[in-house]
Amino acid sequence: MGGYRELFDASLSDPASFWAEAARAVTWTHEPQQILDDSSPPFYRWFPDAELNTCANALDRHVDGGRADQPALIYDSPVTGTQRTYTYRELLSETARFAGALRGLGVGKGDCVVIYMPMVPEAVIAMLACARLGAVHSVVFGGFAAHELAVRIDDARPTVIVSASCGVEPTRTVDYKPMLDAALEMAEHPAPPCVILQREHQPCQLIGGRDRDWHELMSAAQPVDPVPVRSTDPLYVLYTSGTTGKPKGIVRDNGGHAVALLWSMRHIYDTEPGDVYWAASDVGWVVGHSYIVYGPLLLGATTVLYEGKPVGTPDAGAFWRVASEHDVKAMFTAPTAIRAIKKEDPEGLYLGKYDLSALRYLFQAGERLDPDTYQWAADKLGLPVVDHWWQTETGWSIAANPMGVEPMPIKPGSATVPMPGYDVRILRPDGSECDAGEEGAICVRLPLPPGTLPTLWGDDDRYIASYLSAYRGYYLTGDGGYRDEDGYLFVMGRTDDVINVAGHRLSTGAIEAVLADHPSVAECAVIGVADEIKGQVPRGFVVLKAGASPDGLDDELVAAVRENIGAVACFKTVDVVPALPKTRSGKILRKTMRGIADGREEPVPSTIEDPAVLDALKSVLQR
Ligand code: COA
Ligand code: AMP
Repeated sequence: MGGYRELFDASLSDPASFWAEAARAVTWTHEPQQILDDSSPPFYRWFPDAELNTCANALDRHVDGGRADQPALIYDSPVTGTQRTYTYRELLSETARFAGALRGLGVGKGDCVVIYMPMVPEAVIAMLACARLGAVHSVVFGGFAAHELAVRIDDARPTVIVSASCGVEPTRTVDYKPMLDAALEMAEHPAPPCVILQREHQPCQLIGGRDRDWHELMSAAQPVDPVPVRSTDPLYVLYTSGTTGKPKGIVRDNGGHAVALLWSMRHIYDTEPGDVYWAASDVGWVVGHSYIVYGPLLLGATTVLYEGKPVGTPDAGAFWRVASEHDVKAMFTAPTAIRAIKKEDPEGLYLGKYDLSALRYLFQAGERLDPDTYQWAADKLGLPVVDHWWQTETGWSIAANPMGVEPMPIKPGSATVPMPGYDVRILRPDGSECDAGEEGAICVRLPLPPGTLPTLWGDDDRYIASYLSAYRGYYLTGDGGYRDEDGYLFVMGRTDDVINVAGHRLSTGAIEAVLADHPSVAECAVIGVADEIKGQVPRGFVVLKAGASPDGLDDELVAAVRENIGAVACFKTVDVVPALPKTRSGKILRKTMRGIADGREEPVPSTIEDPAVLDALKSVLQR
């Protein structure tokens, strides 16, 4: 294997050969003859004539290949005081039976199954069971409330929904079932059969005729064999926040996904079959899909499923305890988690309590790894702390430091270099390329590599409008940043109205839609402002309708966002203001507001309608 530069250049000069070679790591039921179908740009398809089953690649082939008794999944749940290890044989057996149960409820190839579950092994089993049947799963993060779930149900149109009685947070039990019931009331899609996992912590009432008990179904279910699907068939849909309130259904195919994740496990994460890999994320996010479930299992590694927090379950040593107890080699978290640990244990005293001799790397993503957090983690751990940048849309790293190829010198604040297949360009508004050090829109020349989104669920037009129309022939990442003289990429933040709260991607548009719904609100704006621990938190500004009273309004609006979007939005501050600053064409100057709130010297746009409105708002913004 060559060095980074050699691999990267090969991936761009001859993508077909590069990815054909990478595809050899997958077990196909029909080997790819064609590597890339580029006959209908801007749509591209990888391995269009190949067939495989993703679940068979993640489980069966390891059982057949001598790993049956190796741990596949270690469930570690400090919030319930539970630990359980599943070998590959056990995980396959449970998955094949749950696939049988789903089939019994009418799920077949191409059907969609919505999974709304906490961090329990059954969530992973449900995902893999869908893959086994050639069905399409759509996992909805448990921190989203009923309305967000309903929107996703209406778009995904599931044949079955899989959920649980509750989630367990450090300070409270979250009742999932009432949220599911409310979502099904709100949704236009007729309620399908729902499989409910009754958790001992807090069982729930089942609705006769609609709800089935997970354990009862499993005791009667027969295992089923994997169903081969086309490489280009969808494996899953994962909704992510866009600039409007309507989430985007990111489609992931089967073949490109398996090829890309297998490549990334070895070359980026330096992980081999049998190693223990831990992504401390949630199965509801793309990090959970790629690196709790599919990446490690496709490789034959052991994955850790952690139902807990970095702090408070029970203390700031929780991550080090898990890494030590399970001999984790590579660990992956969001920087916000490290900031939370650093705040509680600034000296890193908990680190000294655990044997971390197996740990080789700490990978960071989900938001920018700020240099202070980087330095703290690198000093305290004495290990490579590796930032890497990607998105739900891409499913794996656009830029990273390829630890399994050639570790590059780390530059704090940089996500390092583009990964194979990503022809990253920084563009000015007129489409010309920025010079080194000059900030612009980060774009990727088409085609994107395998594993990335082929389109949006049922909406090719929105896919083109959202990602491909700003610059012809390029994918618009929505992030801004620059490259330095050495080609290192610095990702500085979103250029749109997407915000990142504790590593969770949220749309300010969705929060605005909730505020605007209140009868007293005439207009509103939500911006993301800097937060020491969470990176960003949303802040709302509302203008009242004539005669409306501001009394108690902030509490009502905070409660409405929590009820509609979910606690995870962390929406706690809203100000009543006399007017919002706008351009002459009526666009609210959110970027200017954000800059002032973050304490930057923000130039007043020449298009502003009334500078006095902005002046009047300054003191509120700077609070
Ligand atoms: N189900 C239900 N509710 C959830 C939830 C879930 N899966 N996840 C979070 N919530 C709720 C929490 O209970 C909390 O509710 P509260 O307002 O009643 O306290 C709220 O959503 C916010 O939760 P969280 O974002 O976890 O904030 P926190 O203050 O409790 O913890 C951190 C802060 C930094 C420790 C935490 O956000 C964290 O670990 N972040 C890492 C995120 C991550 O891994 N992201 C994936 C990208 S790689
Ligand atoms: P998500 O789709 O939830 O994974 O969020 C993707 C967004 O998170 C990106 O578009 C970035 O804005 C941000 N992000 C993720 N990882 C990084 C990183 N390493 N550096 C900077 N921003 C990041």
